[in-house]
Amino acid sequence: MLTNIKITQIKTAETYPIRQVILRPGRSLSTCYFAGDEEKYTFHFGAFDSQILVGICSIYKKAPLSQTGSQYWQIRGMAVLSHYQGKNVGTKLLNHAMQFIITAYEKKPAFWCNARIAAVNLYLRSGFQIIDEQFEIPDVGPHYLMIKTNLSPPDALLPE
Ligand SMILES: CC(C)(COP(=O)(O)OP(=O)(O)OC[C@H]1O[C@@H](n2cnc3c(N)ncnc32)[C@H](O)[C@@H]1OP(=O)(O)O)[C@@H](O)C(=O)NCCC(=O)NCCS
Repeated sequence: MLTNIKITQIKTAETYPIRQVILRPGRSLSTCYFAGDEEKYTFHFGAFDSQILVGICSIYKKAPLSQTGSQYWQIRGMAVLSHYQGKNVGTKLLNHAMQFIITAYEKKPAFWCNARIAAVNLYLRSGFQIIDEQFEIPDVGPHYLMIKTNLSPPDALLPE
């Protein structure tokens, strides 16, 4: 585990290099522009080892297709550089993003994501549940809808 990782908010464009290398390898930069990236209630976070950006995570105020409600926030574009994977950077990013929303915007949020199979354990460990059958995102692969709703402030402070 790395102990000196710092998480800060970053600009949309700063996410593109890691999105492209980790999430859209071999594909054009335009495949790294996600709908809603520049909305008012969209936030991007970066994990830094010294000055080097090693991981990213974005969060959007948006409900999954199967649900309604203004409390939903989508986690998307979670990615960590290969040689930093498995060292808790992704967990830190995820918890930081959720805590940011709880602190600044929504006392009782619900968080959700379309999780790749490889990332399911990460989300399970952070309290997300698989909601539905596996489904396919074209050109990306199989995913599960996962939701975390069991937050009850003031006990909702999440470990990083
Ligand atoms: C998924 C990802 C963001 C997790 O970040 P991370 O820093 O590796 O995660 P952590 O170290 O905090 O937690 C490790 C968990 O992530 C998952 N994981 C996914 N890919 C992994 C990898 N290459 N190495 C280690 N863990 C990985 C495992 O489920 C692991 O949980 P487990 O130890 O209980 O099995 C990162 O591995 C990654 O960028 N993978 C490729 C892109 C991707 O799949 N993004 C998710 C889109 S939904």
